[in-house]
Formats: sequence, C-alpha cells, structure tokens
Amino acid sequence: MKVCVFGASGYVGSSIYKLLKEDSAIDVTGTYLEDPAMFDDLNKLDINEPESFSEFYKQQEPDVVVWSVMSGPDEDELIQEGLQHIITHLTPQTKLVYVSTDFVFTEGKGPYAEDDPTSRMPDDHPLSTYANAKVKAEHFINRELLNYTILRAGPIYGENEIGQLDERTEKLLVPLRLKNTVAYRDDLVRTFVHVTDLAQAVIEFVKNDLTGTYHAGPDKSQSYYAFMVQMAEALGYHGDSVEQASEYEEVDKAIPKNTSLMTDKITNAIKQTFR
Ligand SMILES: NC(=O)c1ccc[n+]([C@@H]2O[C@H](COP(=O)([O-])OP(=O)(O)OC[C@H]3O[C@@H](n4cnc5c(N)ncnc54)[C@H](OP(=O)(O)O)[C@@H]3O)[C@@H](O)[C@H]2O)c1
Repeated sequence: MKVCVFGASGYVGSSIYKLLKEDSAIDVTGTYLEDPAMFDDLNKLDINEPESFSEFYKQQEPDVVVWSVMSGPDEDELIQEGLQHIITHLTPQTKLVYVSTDFVFTEGKGPYAEDDPTSRMPDDHPLSTYANAKVKAEHFINRELLNYTILRAGPIYGENEIGQLDERTEKLLVPLRLKNTVAYRDDLVRTFVHVTDLAQAVIEFVKNDLTGTYHAGPDKSQSYYAFMVQMAEALGYHGDSVEQASEYEEVDKAIPKNTSLMTDKITNAIKQTFR
C-alpha cells in the first residue's frame, strides 16, 4: 500500500510518518515545506502550487493520502488551493484521511457528536481564519468525495515520535522552570488527545476501509486549567504552580467554551485506545 503524508515534518505528521515507516507493508512518502525537514527522505513541496503539486502527485499515485497540514493565518489559502489540488487529483479508489479539529464547533456548547452541525466564527475573531477554513475543508470533502475519513481532534499534546513536545506544553514549561505560577481558564473545556494515540488512529484509518467522520480522543473532557495541573505534575512540578485564570478577560471572550467531543463512535470502530 502506497501512502503519502502531507505535512510529514509537522508535530502530528512526524509521528504519523515515522510510525508508517516502521510498517513493512506500507510504502510511505511525505512532504514538508520549510527547511530543515524532520526526515532526510521527505519531498519539499508547497501544496498550494498547482504545477509542482500535480507533478509530485502523478509521480506518487498513492492509495491513501493523509492531510496533516496546517498554516494558521494562511489556512484559508491552504484549503482553497492545497486541499482543492488534492481533491481534484484523487481517484475514487484513493482514500483521504483528513485531520480536522474540534474548532469546527465554534458555538462551544459541547460535548459534540460527529453529526452535530458545524458553524463558523465571526470573521473579526482572531481564530476565525483557522476555524472557518477547517469548516470549509470539511464541507469540500463531504461534497466532493466518498472515500474519506475526517478525524476531528481537540488540543493535541505529548511528546511525538521524534521527541518534540506540543507548543502548549513548551509554553507551560517556561514559567514552571522559572518557579513562577501560570494561569489557565477553568471554563474552556476540551477533549485533549495524545499525539501518539492520534497518529496510531490515523494509521488504522489508513489501513481500514472505514469512511466518514470520527472524533478522536478519550471519553473524558477537561478544562485547560485541570489539564495543565495534570501536565505540570506529569512533568515533575507542583500542580499548585498552575492557577485558575479569570473567565472574564475581554480579549478571550469569544473563544468557544466547550468544544469537547463525544468519542464513542471511534471507540466502537477501531482498536486504538486513547489515554
Ligand atoms: N496541534 C493541535 O493541537 C491540533 C488540534 C486539532 C487539529 N490539528 C490538526 O492536525 C494537523 C497537523 O497539525 P500540527 O499541529 O502537526 O501542525 P504543524 O506542526 O504546524 O504542522 C503542519 C505542517 O504543515 C506544513 N505546511 C504548511 N503549509 C504548507 C504548504 N503550503 N505546503 C505544504 N506543507 C505545508 C508545514 O510544513 P513545514 O513544517 O515543513 O514548513 C508543517 O509541518 C492539522 O490538520 C491541524 O489542523 C492540530
């Protein structure tokens, strides 16, 4: 089976790529954008560039394509250009495994099931470019494809397969190392998912014939505050270095409160467990 991982040099993509490399039944290729690449054998490719994308894709002709690409402020271009390039090149036999987000539920009234309606953020919200592009991506995939899995994930954490920590944990470590306290909100509730569990779930969907939308993660949700207390302790620091932040900061007021995900569908569908 030939698999192509787009975004194979990223936090999640590195884990997916490395685990696929270790599987002798899979012939895996991957792409990166900015040097240095996390693996020597990745292909440098801007998926927004139609000609180089087309040339690369025709050389590969994969059986499965994994989307682990993200570009924050340029997310809309990535979906309008890069994802469209993939969609127009896929044959009906080629499966797309698309890593999506809990931020498609911008009303923040979770927990959400897979078939709950998604919604857009107001355009003036700082997170709207990313969230609304992911909503658009899911819409394109649903409209244009049959052979796909959309895997939605909440905040992804933990050390990936090449020893990198997620940005949120890196940020938590700064005050902890300086013996300072740090505050997180107790009213923002998420389904946090470990990067290795997610990568392994992606690989199960690479290998199986299941299609449709699934929520990846454990069956528990936590606030940022509760999660970060737990992370601090897991990293060997006192949990009381983490404090509760104010829920009423003007700047944060439009952040969706509860985007937690119901995960029984994936638990019943695949063998992967989520810590
Ligand atoms: N991190 C989270 O908490 C989280 C939560 C929910 C869902 N997700 C989803 O998980 C997936 C992976 O996210 P991540 O956290 O691993 O992000 P990441 O570390 O930023 O990786 C994204 C990768 O996308 C690549 N990329 C960006 N623009 C590109 C372009 N024009 N052409 C080709 N490649 C491009 C970058 O390549 P280079 O590094 O080589 O430049 C980067 O490695 C995304 O679909 C994201 O929406 C993430």
